[in-house]
Amino acid sequence: MNYNYSRSNDEFNRAQDLIPEGIKGMHKIIGNGEYPYYFSKGKGAHVWDLDNNRYVDFIMGKGPYILGYCRPEVDEAVIRQVRLGNVFPMGNVLHNELAEILKTKIPTAERVLFYKTGSCATTAAVRIAKEFTGKNMIFSSGYHGWHDWSNLGVNSKEVGHLIDFNYDLNLLESLLHDYIDDTCAVIVTPEDGYFDSIFYKELQRVCKENGILFILDEVKSGFRVALGGFQAKYNLDPDLSVFSKAMSNGYSISAVVGKKAIMELNQRIHTAGTYDTEVIPLAAALTTISILEKENINHKIELIGKKFIKELNQIFTEHEIGIQGLFGGGSFRFWCKNLQMESLFYTEMASKGILFYAYDNSFISAAHNETILGQVLETINDVASKSLSDYKGTNEDFSLDSIQLYRNKKGFLNRYAGPFGRGDYPLEK
Ligand SMILES: Cc1ncc(COP(=O)(O)O)c(C=O)c1O
Repeated sequence: MNYNYSRSNDEFNRAQDLIPEGIKGMHKIIGNGEYPYYFSKGKGAHVWDLDNNRYVDFIMGKGPYILGYCRPEVDEAVIRQVRLGNVFPMGNVLHNELAEILKTKIPTAERVLFYKTGSCATTAAVRIAKEFTGKNMIFSSGYHGWHDWSNLGVNSKEVGHLIDFNYDLNLLESLLHDYIDDTCAVIVTPEDGYFDSIFYKELQRVCKENGILFILDEVKSGFRVALGGFQAKYNLDPDLSVFSKAMSNGYSISAVVGKKAIMELNQRIHTAGTYDTEVIPLAAALTTISILEKENINHKIELIGKKFIKELNQIFTEHEIGIQGLFGGGSFRFWCKNLQMESLFYTEMASKGILFYAYDNSFISAAHNETILGQVLETINDVASKSLSDYKGTNEDFSLDSIQLYRNKKGFLNRYAGPFGRGDYPLEK
């Protein structure tokens, strides 16, 4: 079975006169005709493209669909709220209900503010932190969205009041030495699977000892790693943190939570938008969180995900292919010996009905059951033995250990040079 994407292609051609670049997003990294670009529906772990090809999806809306597409209880809560209205003159009781839930689940959530996107919420957290400290310089590691303050571009180290310390504690400490009088906060996206809890405890210690705020960007990890996020799993104590994706199973909401004394300063600044008070996503979030808790989904995803990645790695090893998956924090990512093979892998898997988020984190949901994952492993076996046969032997000197070693030497993002984290894996002797 090999899919064709002719209607997707037609639609993409039509968009050329309408929308800059045709569509926004990951199409930039996979060529037209090699991947489906337009989708019409999703259900559980599956999506259908415009040509009616069905896929097991691991992109899952780039993270939000932790329960799978169109989970009936969530959609029913949404439809009930659609009939009542979405944006009101001021508050709605669901604001308080959801804020109470976040306060109970997230250890450091003394106060809660709602926004629409991860970018809006990280921007708000940084603005609140600046107001609290009266200082401007931010040290950052990881992605925090597209707003100006965080827009590092590729390979830039310092932009305006932001410096990327690239998960390198020694670098951070030496930079703090120079900038401490101007420094407001450190904001970091936790990467479970790459750095252990000791790293984050150390980072927290450095922040506290230097009197700067510690902001945890839990947009990806919140409600996925654990209900209370990465901080609950590893017992961290950030001053502010940001939640979004897995909180509401596909409906647009984000939140900044944190210490009362800091959060209350939001009164002195402006971080509000017209749609921040939307009630539909609150209804979705309340139902999503209650299902996550009732069905112990975070734990199930961790178990099923680790097993899946272990089995998938065995297949690549058996076929002597230089690809390994690394699971952490309810998502996984492939590491590949070279870019050509990596690209072929994603396009071959797509043409056989499996969508991975190319060169980025792929997500497992509660709907990815053992049967579905078993079928995916069979397809991987097929692709590794046939389509990737020219790359047999590329597994030599290629292991997760060697990736970790390289990471330790070079910092996190540098391990894969180039735009969007693409590039050959640079093995060091
Ligand atoms: C850790 C993290 N922070 C912030 C963002 C930005 O969120 P959004 O795309 O909703 O603006 C993302 C998006 O992927 C993210 O993963």
